[in-house]
Amino acid sequence: MNSMKILAFESSCDETAAAVVEMDEERGIRQILSSKIASQVETHALYGGVVPEIASRAHTEAISGLCREALAEAKLTPKELDAVAVTYTPGLIGPLLVGVSFAKAYAFANGLPLIPVNHIMGHVAACYLTYKDLKPPFCALVVSGSHTSLLKVKSFTDYELLGMTRDDAAGEAFDKVARVMGLPYPGGAEMDRLASIGDPQAIKFPSIAVAGESLDFSFSGLKTAVVNHLNTLKQRGEGYKMEDVAASFTHTVTGGIYKRMKQAYEKEPFDTFVLAGGVSANSHLRKMAESFGKKHKMRICYAPPILCTDNAAMIGAQGYYEAEAGHFASIDLNAEATCDI
Ligand code: KG4
Ligand code: ZN
Repeated sequence: MNSMKILAFESSCDETAAAVVEMDEERGIRQILSSKIASQVETHALYGGVVPEIASRAHTEAISGLCREALAEAKLTPKELDAVAVTYTPGLIGPLLVGVSFAKAYAFANGLPLIPVNHIMGHVAACYLTYKDLKPPFCALVVSGSHTSLLKVKSFTDYELLGMTRDDAAGEAFDKVARVMGLPYPGGAEMDRLASIGDPQAIKFPSIAVAGESLDFSFSGLKTAVVNHLNTLKQRGEGYKMEDVAASFTHTVTGGIYKRMKQAYEKEPFDTFVLAGGVSANSHLRKMAESFGKKHKMRICYAPPILCTDNAAMIGAQGYYEAEAGHFASIDLNAEATCDI
């Protein structure tokens, strides 16, 4: 496969993003030429979570400006591009449609091939940009505001789902607990900071690892337990230490993930473990994964925080491998809210 310069779009949730990447596996080039992100966090913070209709409108307003900026920063004209990549699944349907429609129009108008990208595989690809030598197979955990999936990544474009959340996503649980404690949305990063100064053993919460052999997760029991714990204290007129709640919650989450990593490893040993998605920015999760890696002589990979949360560079990177595998879309590409991972 020749070198490719790919213009990529991401709009599956509350970040509109456009980026240009240059990829050439033969020459070892995995480069971000530009990456532009317009976050809607402040708008949605008013409501304590993402409002899909508002997100769709904000994507519509932002996408063409971001596209122009991404090309300008990459110092490229449309003629110098080789393809257009776009997130088409999974995500909020309205927001996804904005990106898909824009990418289709852009590709069609400029005579460029269109590459459909799965957002979850995109999160994994953030690590290809971070570690230039990283190649499948490996085991990956994608933990974000909307997803919690444990995957066996067999090749750049093929995966097997080992386990997933049966209810809420990991990031959703972080954000909900933060919200109940009065922290602004999204509260994951602040929970991370508070957990560093709290006592992880202060409160015992229920595990996120569902019983039995399954590698699935469940966050709703933990989330409800934390909310109930805080409400009970409130009713009794008792105060609490936010840092202890954050630390105990985080300890429960990382403990459950450790258990799943161990089970997955015992089923089929792997030498590389990739942490991806917004929650993979969590310092405690990273520390836990590092210690697991040391114990099992395993390479642990995670991207810098700006590539952990939603961005279009990761979509462009995954788009390259999809193109290499011949996965292109025609003008009738549609957005899909859900997928099998
Ligand atoms: O990947 P992402 O941008 O969006 C989805 O694809 O859903 O992830 C956003 C999520 C939010 O829930 C946010 O609170 C969480 O990632 N997050 C964190 C941290 N930084 C972001 N959660 C825990 N610790 C962090 N340091
Ligand atoms: Zn995401």
